[in-house]
This record gives sequence, structure tokens and C-alpha cells, in this order.
Amino acid sequence: MAVLGVLPYPNPFLRRQAQRVDTFDAALAAVVRDMEETMAARDGIGLAATQVGIDLRLLLLDPYALEGDAGRGKPNLVIINPEVVWESPEKQIGEEGCLSFPGVFIQVERPASVRIRARDVNGGTYEIRGEGLGARAILHEIDHLEGVVMIDHVSHLARRRALKKHERNQKALKSESKDADRERD
Ligand code: NI
Repeated sequence: MAVLGVLPYPNPFLRRQAQRVDTFDAALAAVVRDMEETMAARDGIGLAATQVGIDLRLLLLDPYALEGDAGRGKPNLVIINPEVVWESPEKQIGEEGCLSFPGVFIQVERPASVRIRARDVNGGTYEIRGEGLGARAILHEIDHLEGVVMIDHVSHLARRRALKKHERNQKALKSESKDADRERD
């Protein structure tokens, strides 16, 4: 098992349309385990394979996103080849973050609820419904599989502001890791 590197925006891989999964084997299960470790290490509630440089229509969701406190301690949802089967006409606006934009939070409009059909790690088909944060998290992660990121959903001004903050954060991260290298020398 391994913690994988999460690609920061604007890594071009984040703009790919991911490939459908058609083999549900031990190798796929191993990818899922690595992604679970990565999501836990980075304190995320969702992670798309695209974000760790894996070209598959696969994402993980912490059940906390769907069920709140009742979901704590439950296994992550493994969502493969997801299709949105229904979206509510009602919208919600709320704060969104992304492991590819660490430290950046923006207000994004999404449908208030959504129903999706997906495959699990063994290839079985199931449907789930997400409301509020659940709908937001599902749609955010499905976007990643289409090469879409959260800043694509906001106004030009909000996008510019978010990108400025992101660049500052990335610079600070880089100089922190340089300092750490120096301390090791
Ligand atoms: Ni994201």
C-alpha cells in the first residue's frame, strides 16, 4: 500500500477525460487501497483517480459526505464508471475545496440533490442518492473524471481570485519543502 502524490492544478492530467474501467480485478482493488490511504493522509472527503495520475473512471467518497456523523467509521464508497441518472432542478450554493487546490475554498453552485448509478470494486451495479454536501461531493469528483475542476464553475473574477490564492499557496509549499531540504543537508 502506498500514499500517492496528488497532482496540483494546473497539471495537464487534471484536464483528461478518464477511461472507463472494464476489468474488476486484484490490480483495481490495489489501486483503490492506495487511493484510500492517500485520501486519509490528505484528510480529503473525496478523491478521483485522475488526481493521482491514474487514468480510470474511479473515485472514492468518504461516507461522511453522504451521511454526516452517521457515516464516520464506515468504509469509503468506491464509485466506478459513474453516471448521473437524475439531478434536482433546485440548486445549492456552498463552499468547496479540492486536494488539487490545497487551501483554496470557493463558493460553487450545484444541484441540491443527485442520483447516480455506478459499479463497485467487484463490478456490481448500484445507485446512490446524495443531498447537500453529498450531492456536491459526488458531482465535484465526477467532474474530475471529465477533466473539469471546481474553478470552472465560478465567475471570471472568482476564478482569478482563487488562482491567485492557489499560486501563493503553491509557492509557500515549495519554499517550505526547500527549507526542509536545507535542514536535512
Ligand atoms: Ni477535487
